Amino acid sequence: MDSQEKVKQLIELREKARLGGGQHKIDEQHSKGRLTARERINILLDEGSFEEYDMFVTHRTEDFGMSNKKFLTDGVVTGQGTIDGRVVYVFAQDFTIFGGSLSEAFAQKICKIMDQAMKVGAPVIGINDSGGARIQEGVRSLAGYAEIFERNILASGVIPQISAVFGPCAGGAVYSPALTDFIIMSEKSSYMFVTGPKVTKTVTGEDISTENLGGSGVHGTKSGVAHFVVDEEEQGLLLIRKLLSYLPQNNLEEPPLTECDDPIDRKDDELNSIIPENPNQPYNVKDIIFKIVDHSEFLEIHAGYARNVVVGFAKMGGMPVGIVANQPNFLAGVLDIDASRKAARFVRFCDAFNIPIITLVDVPGFLPGSGQEYGGIIIHGAKLMFAYGEATVPKLTVTLRKSYGGAHCVMSSKQLRGDLNYAWPSAEIAVMGPSGAIEILEGKTLAEIDDPERKAKYIAEKETEYKTKFANPYEAAKYGFIDDVIEPRNTRFRIIRGLRTLATKKDPGPMKKHANIPL
Ligand code: HXC
Repeated sequence: MDSQEKVKQLIELREKARLGGGQHKIDEQHSKGRLTARERINILLDEGSFEEYDMFVTHRTEDFGMSNKKFLTDGVVTGQGTIDGRVVYVFAQDFTIFGGSLSEAFAQKICKIMDQAMKVGAPVIGINDSGGARIQEGVRSLAGYAEIFERNILASGVIPQISAVFGPCAGGAVYSPALTDFIIMSEKSSYMFVTGPKVTKTVTGEDISTENLGGSGVHGTKSGVAHFVVDEEEQGLLLIRKLLSYLPQNNLEEPPLTECDDPIDRKDDELNSIIPENPNQPYNVKDIIFKIVDHSEFLEIHAGYARNVVVGFAKMGGMPVGIVANQPNFLAGVLDIDASRKAARFVRFCDAFNIPIITLVDVPGFLPGSGQEYGGIIIHGAKLMFAYGEATVPKLTVTLRKSYGGAHCVMSSKQLRGDLNYAWPSAEIAVMGPSGAIEILEGKTLAEIDDPERKAKYIAEKETEYKTKFANPYEAAKYGFIDDVIEPRNTRFRIIRGLRTLATKKDPGPMKKHANIPL
């Protein structure tokens, strides 16, 4: 073979590799409404930036007639490229080859890019579409999974890890995405479960469809496994690009600061009257978020799960921030198990990647009831407390309205090392709401009043007394628990000025191996 023939051979081999399992398999993939691994990578990365590794890798299995069934890449496309000019590492499982199932060689390819991403300090994006462990490889594919899991764990908190699930993801395979920071599922074509419908039926007798067991609807609303659910794969891939625009490359970098042409001192007069006069009337806290962040742009995470708390990324004065806000529009913004878990995970992510946390408080307390107590609200509420108390990034809190009881302490209070704690004049900071407090404090007296009219009058008087004393921000401000009571329309400016002041904050905790967060 002369040198020209050798180059021709290389080009042919590359073309063959790019065809994956063959044109008919690509057509099948398209007919199911799914893109191929390479099409996904092309949408995800900056045009022309992808450099593929290990294109010539094949499996090493001889059993089950596999020695004459070999495909270049072995079912996973791996390499690196850029998103908005910043380096990322990527792997995309290729369903057209052995259903994207994972062999030993396949796992080694993923491990290679993960190891390199750790050395370089760049995010890893994994696109999942796979039948799981390659059955013909037996225990070697299980070992391959475990190699990936260990790398996911070591990379956690060092580089951002993002998983897209655009097809099947079943059995132990679910644990790699689960160990990463964010999971995106496509609405119609993806599912995730540890045990599929057939085995579920055999073991428990429960008859359930794939969709109802592990579809995106389940994970986007009930389990919280999926952080984002998208209609189309393309939307999911563009979402990853957007998500990365808020994140640093690794835990030693600051998040990317961008030019901001939204005036930092933009006042919004509507904020002065956005809180309803009636304290029991709900409102949408996202309206407040949109008014204070740059260009009203807010990337909400877990939008369909635990809607009583809102979390997501935005920029303020060009600085990426994580926002946590109680949502009075849903369950009155109460903290329950799911909301605590959701917010805790988000707070810890922000802290790991140097992203300041803005907390908007309007919380009536923790949700009461046996369902919550049996489910361990004590532990889950403690999780959120722990996450806030442990976080050393700048923490700015604005109490909008209610801040009652244990939930007050949890929501980035001063005593959990809140750096700047502001309150609006509408804030009510107390042990509990007026009606609950009067029922407890005046229980005996009320029992002795038979006349309903007199009773109602007495309650109203006592509630007014209680409200005058506690249902305002000044009692807390008197003790320095609130740093300042601010005019709502100035909130954007006060937060941005605070963020700038706190940019050089250092607050290391005591040395330890690791904390023991209540899990
Ligand atoms: C080898 C596999 C495979 C697997 C699919 N294929 N899964 N090959 N190992 N795990 C192959 C099929 O034989 C077929 O090959 C091609 O991929 C496409 O699969 P189809 O079944 O034709 O596709 P579809 O009808 O879309 O069904 C997709 C599927 C189904 C639902 C994923 O293939 C399936 O149920 N596969 C098995 C899933 C599973 O039980 N995996 C093990 C889970 S346990 P041909 O040559 O015909 O094109 C696990 C443990 C991980 O993963 C542990 C980690 C610790």
